[in-house]
Amino acid sequence: MCRTDDSGAAWAWLDWRDVPEIAPPRGTRDILPPDSYAWRWLLDTHRSVVESYGYQPLDTPVMESTDLFARGVGADTDIVEKQMFTFSDRGGRSLTLRPEGTAGVVRAVLGKRLDQEMRPVRVHYAGPFFRAENPQRGRYRQFAQVGVECIGERSPALDAEIVEMAWRFFERLGITGLQLQLNTLGDRDDRARYREALVNYYTPLRDDLCDDCKRRLESNPLRLLDCKADARFAEKAPLIWDLLDAGSKEFFTTVAEMLEDADVVAHINHRIVRGLDYYTDTVFEIWHESLHGQQNSLGGGGRYDGLAEALGFPSTPGVGYALGVDRSLLVAEQLGVVPPPRPSCDALVVSVETPQARRAAAIARALRGAGLRVVLDVSDRRLDRKLRNADKLGAPLAVIIGEDEARDGTATIRDLSRRAQETVSEQAMVAVVTDALERLA
Ligand code: HAM
Repeated sequence: MCRTDDSGAAWAWLDWRDVPEIAPPRGTRDILPPDSYAWRWLLDTHRSVVESYGYQPLDTPVMESTDLFARGVGADTDIVEKQMFTFSDRGGRSLTLRPEGTAGVVRAVLGKRLDQEMRPVRVHYAGPFFRAENPQRGRYRQFAQVGVECIGERSPALDAEIVEMAWRFFERLGITGLQLQLNTLGDRDDRARYREALVNYYTPLRDDLCDDCKRRLESNPLRLLDCKADARFAEKAPLIWDLLDAGSKEFFTTVAEMLEDADVVAHINHRIVRGLDYYTDTVFEIWHESLHGQQNSLGGGGRYDGLAEALGFPSTPGVGYALGVDRSLLVAEQLGVVPPPRPSCDALVVSVETPQARRAAAIARALRGAGLRVVLDVSDRRLDRKLRNADKLGAPLAVIIGEDEARDGTATIRDLSRRAQETVSEQAMVAVVTDALERLA
C-alpha cells in the first residue's frame, strides 16, 4: 500500500510487495549499454560526415506550439491529424511533442535571422521525435532522427548535396542494399495543375474511396496518393512529371545529373509524394531491402521553398533530410556492421579495506587527471569478485591498494589478461599505468 505521511512523502509507508513494476510507455524504449554504444557510433558518424560539408550543430525544443506543425507539416496530413502528442500547458496554450524537426529548425533559424548573416544556413541536428503510431518493429512512438537543413538558397546543387550527404552517411556506416527513390513535386503552379488533374481523376471514383480520402479530395488531393486503403486507384493516377513546366523539369534534371557525377545511384520514382505537405521540387526517400511495408524507409527529405511563408516568415527556400536512427541501427545490426562496443574503462582502482578508500580515491583522481577512464571500487566485496567486475567493464588493468600498499605508499598494478603484477611507488604509478596501457593497446 502507498500512503503519504505528514511530510507528504508517498514512499514512507510503501510495502514493496504490492507495487507493480513501472514499464516504459507504449512505443518507447530504453537504450542501454552495450546498445547505447551503437547509438553513439551512428550519431558520431553522422556528425562527422555532415560537418565535413560545413553543417553546424543546432538544437530546438522537443515541444513546440501546435500551430507550428498544423501550418508547417499540414493540417490534412496523417502526422497532424492522427499522430501528434498534443496537450495544453498550465496557461491553456496548445503544445505538441515535435513529430518532426524541419518546421522547428526553420522557425529557429529564421526567427533569429541567421540567414541574414550567412546564406545558405547549413545546420544539422539529432534527437527524439514523437508520433502516436501503432508500435511495431522499426516503428515507435518515440524515435530518433539525425537530420540536416540548408536554408536560404535555391539551387539544384544544394538538393544534390543533401542527397549525397545522406548517401555518404550510409556508406560510412557500411550499410548496403539501399535504394534511393527520387522525384520532384514541382513548384506552386505545377502543384496547382497536379491538384486539378488529381481531382479530375478521383472525382468519378469518389463513392469507392474511404472516408478519409473523400474528405481529402476536397482538402488535399495529393494525400490521396498515400492512402493504403485506396492504393489500387493511385496506380493509375496522373503523374506529376507530365504536368511540370520546363523550368521545374530542368531543375530536377540537374539534380539527377549532379547525383550521377557523385556516383549516387538514384531510381526516379514519380509516385513518391512524401507524407508532409511542405515539399516542393526535389523529394527523396532511402529504402532498405530488408525492411518491409511502411517501415522500409530509412530516411527522406526534399526541398520546401514554401514552408517559411506558411510559418509567417519572408519567403525563404530550404532543403533537408531526416534519417531514422532506430531503423538504421536495426539494419546495421542485421548486416553485422556495428563496431564492437569500446570498453568503458582503462583501469579499475580497488582498495580492500575501508581505511584505504581515500588513498584509492586519490589514485583514481590522479589517473583520470592523466586522461584515463577509471572506475573506483572501494566496496566491501572480496578482491576476486571486484576483479571479475573489471573484466565486465573491459578494464585491462587493476590498481590495487591493500594494507601493505597503504603502509608503504605504493600501488600494485595488475595486468588482468596476463595475470602479471608489479608493485610501484605512488610517484611512478601514473607513468607505469599509462605505459602498460600503451603496450596493451
Ligand atoms: P519523415 O519521412 O517523416 O521525414 O521521417 C524521416 C525518417 O524518420 C523516416 O524515414 C524513418 O526512418 C524515421 N521515422 C519516422 N517515423 C518513425 C517512427 N514512428 N518510428 C521509427 N522511425 C521513424 C521527416 O521527418 C522530415 N522532417 C524530413 C525532412 C527534413 N525533410 C526536409 N528536411
